[in-house]
Amino acid sequence: MKRIVVLASGRGSNFRAVLSAIEDHRIAGAHILALVSDRSGTGAEQIARDANIPITLVDYSDKSKRASSDENLTKVISNLAPDCVLALGFMRILPEKLVLAFRHKIINVHPSLLPAFPGMNAQKQALEYGVRVTGATVHFVDTGVDTGPIILQSAVQVPAGATLEEITDLIQAEEHRIVVQALDLFLKDQIQVDGRKVLIK
Ligand code: GAR
Repeated sequence: MKRIVVLASGRGSNFRAVLSAIEDHRIAGAHILALVSDRSGTGAEQIARDANIPITLVDYSDKSKRASSDENLTKVISNLAPDCVLALGFMRILPEKLVLAFRHKIINVHPSLLPAFPGMNAQKQALEYGVRVTGATVHFVDTGVDTGPIILQSAVQVPAGATLEEITDLIQAEEHRIVVQALDLFLKDQIQVDGRKVLIK
């Protein structure tokens, strides 16, 4: 069993997709140790509670104590000693110390075809830019913002006149599929990283 920690700050639909894949035996060999979040009262928290997954909240409410919150987050995750950290809609830049300690072990899902539209509100950025194709990316986290080696991507055509909500839904369907696929590859030790390139064995 590989020990997995989930990081999430929001609705938790990607978390739900991963949990469903484990529960339905579409993927095997994953044990979710904990949900770690920077916010309470989220959909992700409710999903963890329903599944009896322990929840740890790291307090980021005091912006002047950002460094100590980052230190806490690093400590919480290090103490759990996971094989893999899944960042499923965790809306913070991870502390460098954490990223370096878990090199090629932190997997993030992002709602664009990176390197286009990194950072926040990627779907909105893509719509405003007027791209015809956007999509979802699953990648390892490095010390940059959404710059780590790409594991999987899936493209989505932008329908003419699409609203932000429509494009978000189309991208999310792809996120749910490729995040489960990427985790499956990780669990089966089929991912090898060579510099920026991810080789799938
Ligand atoms: C997802 O669309 C994910 O790609 C995005 O947050 C959403 C979380 O949805 N993450 C980022 O934008 C990170 N830069 P969810 O809570 O329903 O899984």
